[in-house]
Amino acid sequence: MKFFVDSAVIEDIKKAKALGLADGVTTNPTLIRRSGQDFQDAITEIANLVKGPVLAEPVSETVKDIVKEGKILASWAPNVVVKIPLTHAGLEATHILKHENIETALTLVFSSAQALLAAKAGAKYICPFVGRLDDIDTPGMELIADIMQIYDNYPELDTEVIVASVRTPGHITESAALGADGVTAPLKVIEQMVRHPLTDIGIEKFLKDWNASGQ
Ligand code: E4P
Repeated sequence: MKFFVDSAVIEDIKKAKALGLADGVTTNPTLIRRSGQDFQDAITEIANLVKGPVLAEPVSETVKDIVKEGKILASWAPNVVVKIPLTHAGLEATHILKHENIETALTLVFSSAQALLAAKAGAKYICPFVGRLDDIDTPGMELIADIMQIYDNYPELDTEVIVASVRTPGHITESAALGADGVTAPLKVIEQMVRHPLTDIGIEKFLKDWNASGQ
């Protein structure tokens, strides 16, 4: 299972990498803004730091412009993947870029219908947003189950499902149980996965007993 870091903050990515949890990185315009870095500088630095895919999102809205901007982003580093919002134009641009051997990830995926179209257009990855669905009282993980079922029915659809908009450790373990190819999570959620109160209590007891043993 792939763990992507959902951040453009270099320190966050380094911390996840130290845990072996930076198989790739996802960014979006909001995350770039939050990092306070220049877009190209951030993407090239991240692409040097991690071996895996680094998803960078064009802000263009027409087919011609998405393709043009996508080619520029892809030229920044060999592991940059063009992350395109799932619109009619985005699907057409994905189809064109696929034939130019440029990898794409379709983002802002909120339905299994969109996921099916993304795979047919030739996207290497899709990013379905579970947290934003939960926010509107629609179970995000049900979408992942539906997508996995559809993709499993057709082995020729080789698009990888990277579960996005992850807000809780449960989103990650449920994604794993459903066989999603990966997740993209903020460092905060990864750190929440590490801790368990019984681990802390256990360590405290072991140390107390060790000190009492006089060794
Ligand atoms: C990643 O690809 C997405 O841009 C990100 O997971 C969105 O997360 P959010 O819904 O918490 O903004």
